[in-house]
Amino acid sequence: MITVTGATGTIGRTLVDLLTEAGEEVVAVSRRPRQGSSAVPGVRWAEGHVGDAASMRAPLTGARALFIVLGGELNAFGENPELLLRAASDAGVERVVLVSSQVSGTRPEAPSHARLREFEAAVRASGLDSTILRPGGFASNAFAWADTIRTKRTVFAPFADVALPVVDPADIAAVAAKALRPLPEGGSGGRGSRVYELTGPEPISPRRQAAVISAALGEEVTFVELSREEAHAALARFMPEEAVAGTLDVLGAPLPAESKVSTDVATVLGRPAGGFAGWAGRNLAAFR
Ligand SMILES: NC(=O)c1ccc[n+]([C@@H]2O[C@H](COP(=O)([O-])OP(=O)(O)OC[C@H]3O[C@@H](n4cnc5c(N)ncnc54)[C@H](OP(=O)(O)O)[C@@H]3O)[C@@H](O)[C@H]2O)c1
Repeated sequence: MITVTGATGTIGRTLVDLLTEAGEEVVAVSRRPRQGSSAVPGVRWAEGHVGDAASMRAPLTGARALFIVLGGELNAFGENPELLLRAASDAGVERVVLVSSQVSGTRPEAPSHARLREFEAAVRASGLDSTILRPGGFASNAFAWADTIRTKRTVFAPFADVALPVVDPADIAAVAAKALRPLPEGGSGGRGSRVYELTGPEPISPRRQAAVISAALGEEVTFVELSREEAHAALARFMPEEAVAGTLDVLGAPLPAESKVSTDVATVLGRPAGGFAGWAGRNLAAFR
């Protein structure tokens, strides 16, 4: 059995589907009770909060693997992550997969990502088989443009021409699914502690992303470049203040390591990472 936190979220939703399709029993954790979802074979919804280890004891009962993703302000503060790892260990969990960030590796002093580094340290210190995923920016951050594309056919975003290899969250979920599942019968090695840097197949700028959505819609989409200050105000509406400056640093002035394409998705999955056009095509309804 595999316990998935953030099961209603960007990565978690796809991860639950991938695991159940592969025949795994999943406990899908959400802070809110879920009605009518128990009908999905292989999935049991459980109330819990990844930021409150005591609430995770019941969802972890019987689990062999745990997926950890930090939603919202959990990226900024919360209880000692060792408590969650201890609860997992006590429950008999053997494998843990954590969604961290590329920035944990590229900017090891960045205050914006201190909390993710704390989780990484706790996962490593747990002694459990661990996989730390360090994704770059998500393709799905373009959902932030959905309202103004729908209503004004316009994208408002900063750093129009700074290209980064954004990753499809479905690829993050696929890598997580592989790391969470037991090795095939007779499989050996490969377990221990590993870090994967997850990016898309090529750098793509916000202006180019808007053009890809425009082409998929078959309609013109105007790009309006925001100043850093305007972008700060927009991000601070839904992101912890601590994370905003760090995020804008990466978006506006990426280090060479942040612009680089990683081969880890292809190595783990045995197929190339998905590009932005594929993500946009699957999610076009949000922009119509
Ligand atoms: N977006 C990027 O470009 C990017 C890049 C690199 C790394 N990351 C990292 O990836 C992780 C995933 O980020 P995400 O934004 O995509 O997560 P998300 O999927 O929006 O959030 C996952 C789930 O967490 C649950 N949750 C638990 N406590 C929460 C809280 N206090 N506030 C909000 N949600 C909470 C929510 O489920 P319930 O409501 O059902 O409980 C939510 O669906 C983060 O750690 C982020 O730092 C993101």
